[in-house]
Amino acid sequence: MARVHVCSVADLPPGEGRRVDTTPAIALFNVDGEFYAVADMCTHATASISEGYLEDDCSVECPIHTARFCLKTGAALCLPATEPLQTFAVSVEDGEVYVEVAQGEGA
Ligand code: FES
Repeated sequence: MARVHVCSVADLPPGEGRRVDTTPAIALFNVDGEFYAVADMCTHATASISEGYLEDDCSVECPIHTARFCLKTGAALCLPATEPLQTFAVSVEDGEVYVEVAQGEGA
């Protein structure tokens, strides 16, 4: 695994998400100060999960067909998506956010 620096904590306020142009692209979210990273490409069709809508239960709603995914596990919580999103471990150190990606992947 490789640890990739993705942004500063100050760059992503609570309740917001952003796309990180790693390979594959990652959607990074700040949920009340906790950071979660999932694959940015929806498993149903072509949509950027980082442009989705955060829900109160730590899930994100796809902006195209409104499937919801758990940000903790990546699980698809409702149709039309049935396959989970890949999840990535996130760490915060000295105000900087890092994501673990497989070797060969990364920015
Ligand atoms: S593209 Fe995400 S639910 Fe269809």
